[in-house]
Amino acid sequence: MARVAGTERRGGPTERPDSTPIARLAGATKIYPAAGEDVHAVTDVTLAIAPGEIVALLGRSGSGKTTLLNLIGTLDRPTAGTIEIAGVRVEALPEEALLRLRRETLGFVFQFFHLFPYLTALENAALPLWLGGWHGSDVAVRARGLLAQVGLADKADRPAGSLSGGEMQRVAIARALAHDPKLVLADEPTGNLDQANAETVLSLLATLAKESGTALVLATHSEATARIADRRVHMVDGRVVEIR
Ligand SMILES: Nc1ncnc2c1ncn2[C@@H]1O[C@H](COP(=O)(O)OP(=O)(O)O)[C@@H](O)[C@H]1O
Ligand SMILES: [Mg+2]
Repeated sequence: MARVAGTERRGGPTERPDSTPIARLAGATKIYPAAGEDVHAVTDVTLAIAPGEIVALLGRSGSGKTTLLNLIGTLDRPTAGTIEIAGVRVEALPEEALLRLRRETLGFVFQFFHLFPYLTALENAALPLWLGGWHGSDVAVRARGLLAQVGLADKADRPAGSLSGGEMQRVAIARALAHDPKLVLADEPTGNLDQANAETVLSLLATLAKESGTALVLATHSEATARIADRRVHMVDGRVVEIR
């Protein structure tokens, strides 16, 4: 049957699944101006990430992983090239539209967790819900469900600052998944954990991403961490040198 380009929709039982990349970069480049020589942090990266795909950005410290993750996360704007998130060109989008896109489509997990230590685990996990306009008892019900998913149902009312590193990162994962993002960006998410906790957090991230159909881009310097990915994007000096 003939299909008119651009008429594909999600959801119908007879329709094929949406295969539009959740992120698409073409020639993405980031140059930081500096007094002596400009820093070429990311150079000419062309990459498409499929819905639900787990991709590792793998490279040494300084190879441009965080910069590339920040470009995909719309936290930084490219010097050149184009970036599309969920079909939306973002490189020139006004800040307010970017805020909405981040809130609705993206989730973030950081190496140092970035929790509010004096808020409870539940309140930390609930933050994106409040920001997204949820209110009343729905928030607590949803946030408790998320904490149960990461194995922390019994710690929901503890101040986040009183939890172990592994537990804090699990709260951060619950928070990242709170609003059902299409793409989660994780920057060295196990970099500050001992090996046992790193394993727990890593398999949790992979399992939850697969269960929820969320794509995951994971920046890491470690081959062992990158093994959970469907594809590994190797970076050297800001360039993608190999994808496998
Ligand atoms: N805000 C910035 N200003 C100037 N240089 C930066 C900035 N952020 C990163 N860089 C430089 O860009 C390069 C890539 O850094 P980064 O993306 O943090 O790499 P990675 O995450 O792989 O360690 C490094 O040389 C780093 O010093
Ligand atoms: Mg980094």
